[in-house]
Amino acid sequence: MAELQEVQITEEKPLLPGQMPEAAKIHCVETPYGSVTFTVYGTPKPKRPAILTYHDVGLNYKSCFQPLFQFGDMQEIIQNFVRVHVDAPGMEEGAPVFPLGYQYPSLDQLADMIPCVLQYLNFSTVIGVGVGAGAYILSRYALNHPDTVEGLVLINIDPNAKGWMDWAAHKLTGLTSSIPEMILGHLFSQEELSGNSELIQKYRNIITHAPNLDNIELYWNSYNNRRDLNFERGGDITLKCPVMLVVGDQAPHEDAVMADSGGQPQLTQPGKLTEAFKYFLQGMGYMASSCMTRLSRSRTASLTSAASIDGNRSRSRTLSQSSESGTLSSGPPGHTMEVSC
Ligand code: BEZ
Repeated sequence: MAELQEVQITEEKPLLPGQMPEAAKIHCVETPYGSVTFTVYGTPKPKRPAILTYHDVGLNYKSCFQPLFQFGDMQEIIQNFVRVHVDAPGMEEGAPVFPLGYQYPSLDQLADMIPCVLQYLNFSTVIGVGVGAGAYILSRYALNHPDTVEGLVLINIDPNAKGWMDWAAHKLTGLTSSIPEMILGHLFSQEELSGNSELIQKYRNIITHAPNLDNIELYWNSYNNRRDLNFERGGDITLKCPVMLVVGDQAPHEDAVMADSGGQPQLTQPGKLTEAFKYFLQGMGYMASSCMTRLSRSRTASLTSAASIDGNRSRSRTLSQSSESGTLSSGPPGHTMEVSC
């Protein structure tokens, strides 16, 4: 019998006519580590957290999250939440290049800027959605301020500092590759890069010609100098909130649980991610089950795969949502949901 082949397709389902994107309000606040810009969509909803996003290196909130948040099926979810999209300093559109010698904040300091954003907006709790470096920053924020984080969606997080081997490999790559190529290698798998799809061409173009490339390099350096998040199984350092852990199937280090690079499912698989997010919010009591379409209900069970944050990743395509969530959250009411897409 012929074997079924998995084909990589970028999902597209733009807003329907009449579905106008909401107006954005751009704000900037001063923090002890410099100013930070963030963009707010929608209005605060009573008794609901804000959705707060943090983007990966080489991107800003728009290039990282627009395809997901403007995906057609996502609208029924996000209309129930105000959204706050943080741009790392110097990554916002039109950002001036920092002067030579500027001390860019560490990832821990970037996390420490978030309370200023929430204070300014007078928001008390959030559901964080972060990719790569952004996922690390939101995890650090959640460890420091557990009472303000109701849930976390972590896409391609690497919670560990670079080891000696990683540093050696990084230095070697740096001898022959430009900063844009290194960042593209962090965002996408080699397979994706050599496939050179329209998406890759688009992001290669964005990063290579970024007028703030020097700022991007500073964020990249902070990412590479991150320290361990030190999650401990059964220990004190755990995320207390429900976590949806997403690993791109294109991640080159698929066996390492957290992908250090590769695959941007929020760009290539917004439909799958939307379904999983809906399911995650439903688990938190924020989506009525009637909002789950029959298709959604049956497909959700097939799009998740079991994983754990400390390395025992199973490739079995089963739904994984548990309240016994190992190192990510320690007991009730936390739960983790692991998604591979
Ligand atoms: C939003 O509706 O939250 C959104 C719109 C455009 C880009 C990113 C997010």
